[in-house]
Amino acid sequence: MNDEAATVDPAPSTGSGTSVATVAVGADHAGIALKAELVEHLGARGIEVLDLGTHGSERVDYPDFGAAVGRAVAEGRAELGIAVCGSGLGICMAANKIAGIRAASVYDATSARLSRQHNDANVICLGERLTGPEVARDAVDAWLDAAFEGGRHVGRVAKLDALGGSTP
Ligand code: RB5
Repeated sequence: MNDEAATVDPAPSTGSGTSVATVAVGADHAGIALKAELVEHLGARGIEVLDLGTHGSERVDYPDFGAAVGRAVAEGRAELGIAVCGSGLGICMAANKIAGIRAASVYDATSARLSRQHNDANVICLGERLTGPEVARDAVDAWLDAAFEGGRHVGRVAKLDALGGSTP
């Protein structure tokens, strides 16, 4: 199907990051240090943080925290979400199981920016074992400061949402 032929309704856009008030964050035990860095960074940007844990080094299961971040966004308790595990992969798989969530594993500012501009990602996922804090902060900023481009991406994002997911 070409760009003009898409007929599905557009998904709600997350719009420009300048108006984001609350971001939900969550991590497993392998992501708590990077989560802490990002909580501080979000606070410095004047963004309210809904920290869903985990808060200690005890081993936990990443699906619980990815789903918690996804549910917080899907239920409107936060406009956007950030999930961190060792690789940024497993926790992203979990978040994407929740209906309405478009979670993207990102590695740098470019992947983070594109996840918002093209995919309207409402959750990004980072891997503490793969991405250092400075690059991670840049990625978060690029994502927050970008806006969904709409246009040819609208129908594709609507198709993503139409694939469904677990009710929050
Ligand atoms: C935990 O050891 C690790 O498997 C988890 O943080 C994540 O990388 C899974 O995708």
